[in-house]
Amino acid sequence: MHAALLAPSLLAGDHANLAASAAAAARSGAHWLHLDIMDGHFVPIVSFGPERLAALRWAGCQMFFDTHLMLDEPQKYVEAFARAGADRISIHIEPRFDVIGTLIQIRKLGCRAGLVLNPGTPVSAVEALLAQVDLVLVMTVQPGFGGQAFRRDQLPKIAELRALRGKRNLDFRIEVDGGIDLGTAAECRASGADTFVVGTSFFSAADPTAFAAAVARL
Ligand code: DX5
Ligand code: ZN
Repeated sequence: MHAALLAPSLLAGDHANLAASAAAAARSGAHWLHLDIMDGHFVPIVSFGPERLAALRWAGCQMFFDTHLMLDEPQKYVEAFARAGADRISIHIEPRFDVIGTLIQIRKLGCRAGLVLNPGTPVSAVEALLAQVDLVLVMTVQPGFGGQAFRRDQLPKIAELRALRGKRNLDFRIEVDGGIDLGTAAECRASGADTFVVGTSFFSAADPTAFAAAVARL
């Protein structure tokens, strides 16, 4: 079981000053910064492009960039995000594209690779690819917006991934994203999750450092 890790989601930060929100995340003791990349097609809204990652690096952000691509054609953009400073690039399994080729491309670019499952997608959709990634992200909301309610019906998928990891002696992290607060994080942890993406609850926390410490204790 990996140590518990917090990844604040910058989508819930101050869009008039994202560098300051990133700095606040770093000060809290969080190690990763979760960056939601949306194309207005795979999901209804458009968020950041690679230039935003480059601007955060330029502004001095040294956090690990956990980059979540919600794109219909991720293979077209992985190089731009890698060059802009992404450390991990996670792609959704649902769109129709060359998933294996794109995972290989991500690793060739020197980034870590992750696979993402929407709530309606079963674990069987990624089972054959688990040895090719170091993280699987289980969406606990339908992607596209922050501030949605946590979906408890996704907990069995987390447990299924944990069982598969053990049975096949793999080492990938299990990340959850959407509606995560300290209560739902604890539920996910009990099912086997170890990496917690938090937007609204983190950036509205009265004491982000205490919040980060509480996640680390899970
Ligand atoms: C939603 C994004 C999430 C979102 C999480 O599609 O992938 O990362 O920003 O925000 P909260 O924690 O507010 O649900
Ligand atoms: Zn996300």
